[in-house]
Amino acid sequence: MWYETKASKILGIEYPILQGPFGGSLSSVKLVSTVSNAGGLGGYGAYTLSPEEIIKVDQQIKTATNKPYNINLWVSDSDTPDGNVTDEQFKQAQALFKPYFDEIGIPLPEKPAPFKSRFENQLEVILHQKPPVFSFMFGVLSDDILEQCRRRGIATVGAATTLDEAIALDSTGVDLIIASGFEAGGHRPSFLASAESSITGTFVLLQLIKEKVKTPVIAAGGIANGKGVAAALALGADGVQMGTAFLATEESNATEVHREMLFSDNAKYTTLSRAYTGRLGRGITSRLAKDMIYKEHGFLPFPLQTQFISHIRKRAIEQEKWDLILFWGGQIAPVLKHRKATELMKSILDETTAYFDQLGSR
Ligand SMILES: Cc1cc2nc3c(=O)[nH]c(=O)nc-3n(C[C@H](O)[C@H](O)[C@H](O)COP(=O)(O)O)c2cc1C
Repeated sequence: MWYETKASKILGIEYPILQGPFGGSLSSVKLVSTVSNAGGLGGYGAYTLSPEEIIKVDQQIKTATNKPYNINLWVSDSDTPDGNVTDEQFKQAQALFKPYFDEIGIPLPEKPAPFKSRFENQLEVILHQKPPVFSFMFGVLSDDILEQCRRRGIATVGAATTLDEAIALDSTGVDLIIASGFEAGGHRPSFLASAESSITGTFVLLQLIKEKVKTPVIAAGGIANGKGVAAALALGADGVQMGTAFLATEESNATEVHREMLFSDNAKYTTLSRAYTGRLGRGITSRLAKDMIYKEHGFLPFPLQTQFISHIRKRAIEQEKWDLILFWGGQIAPVLKHRKATELMKSILDETTAYFDQLGSR
């Protein structure tokens, strides 16, 4: 059967359908457990959580499902060596974004406190809590960490946006590699070259990686239904990861406005921008993202830009100024149909099975 792939075996799941983890409070225990209970792999994006919060989430997931699930972290979570920026850099960002602060009637914020990487402490919790699957982006794991995961029975999954990154992940011995195409919603998880120079579509990237790398590959980006799953499998994928389609379901932690945006005409237009976080990410095109094209030099590095922009976001939500807010989402959103995760899963499985049955009967 189409779903008996190396990825299903490694992950211990029935169907090689991964619900993409969402960082920044968009994941939910409900969505993770719904997908895992339906035979796929639910994923929780935990990179903004404290170690204590990760423990709590992990315990909640373990209560909600006895099936495998995934917790996701960011290996690199800061783009500035000491977590700080110069006063000059900060003044530049203030000048660039001042019109928006004026528009919504709030004062320019103070310079954010220096950011301290959270990854090491979060990783300790992962090794302690032993989720069945640990996926990560923005880097590779050391031999020692991978060995510790192996000893604890934690399957590891790393994300690549280029063939070079897939080769780098492969050489470390991860269990699975995500081929993350530029169609995807959320951040581009590039770690060898700039995200702007790592713009390859999912189906090209998948084929390049399959050609050169032995580790099983999961296709991610621009897949939202059974036809997409069948196409990815036909090109050699061992599974698929879907983000936008699951983000739009009631079980995710996206706001109602966000979910409606993904089902609206606005979703026809998406932009890759650094304006909201300092790292390149795809969301529904906003006025702010459009205004900021070619003004990247004035942005703060990740994650300080997020902290700076969060002031605008908070007030813009109160004032319902939706064109100042980034609604994360990928290019595939206009084909979305399902608002419940169980229905989405059922439809993906039925459609993929029907597709392969039909091929077999030809
Ligand atoms: C809002 C949002 C947040 C995301 N956050 C993460 C994350 O923290 N870690 C990660 O590995 N992938 C993250 N992703 C990527 C997804 O897990 C998945 O690979 C991607 O959405 C697949 O492409 P699609 O959106 O076209 O389905 C995020 C995606 C979205 C839409």
